[in-house]
Amino acid sequence: MMRKAGMSTLLLFAALAVSGCKVSDTDNQTAAQAGPPGGPPPPPPHQMRAEMAPGDRLKTTMDGKDLFSNRCGACHLDWGMGTNLITKQQLALGRPPAMGLLANRDDLTADYVKSVVRMGKNAMPRQTRVDVTDAELDKIAAYLGKGK
Ligand code: HEC
Repeated sequence: MMRKAGMSTLLLFAALAVSGCKVSDTDNQTAAQAGPPGGPPPPPPHQMRAEMAPGDRLKTTMDGKDLFSNRCGACHLDWGMGTNLITKQQLALGRPPAMGLLANRDDLTADYVKSVVRMGKNAMPRQTRVDVTDAELDKIAAYLGKGK
């Protein structure tokens, strides 16, 4: 008796589980075809970086903003780990949270940017000339270096 009841309960659950899977599969397909809402959320900004232009990276034709986005954005765009850390530092200095984004800073000089990139700074690993060529870094430093 007990055994039989247990078995049929098991079968019932198995049937529910199978049909449950089928239903949600169909839901997902419909949602994916229709696009949002129901699709995955959009990726955060630091995963939406500018693309690298094809061509010689030693004589780049890209502008500083796009180079910064591509080469530094994983850490220094919104939600990047560099942005998070620098936001804390800037708040501690009494500056507004927007200063966590390097692009908003008015106190960075081009020379300082270059030296941090090549030598690293605490939690920031140094970037080699393979990571960022000198030509790329010149443009990035000019873009960020609004300080005197
Ligand atoms: C792997 C992540 C990462 C990458 C890639 C990265 N940084 Fe950083 N950066 C950090 C972190 C983290 C800090 C904060 C370091 C600390 O104070 O501990 C930082 C700090 C800095 C600072 C110092 C800011 C200050 O207030 O003193 C500058 C300037 C800087 N980064 C520029 C760049 C540039 C330009 C690039 C691209 C060429 C770049 N970084 C790429 C993580 C990164």
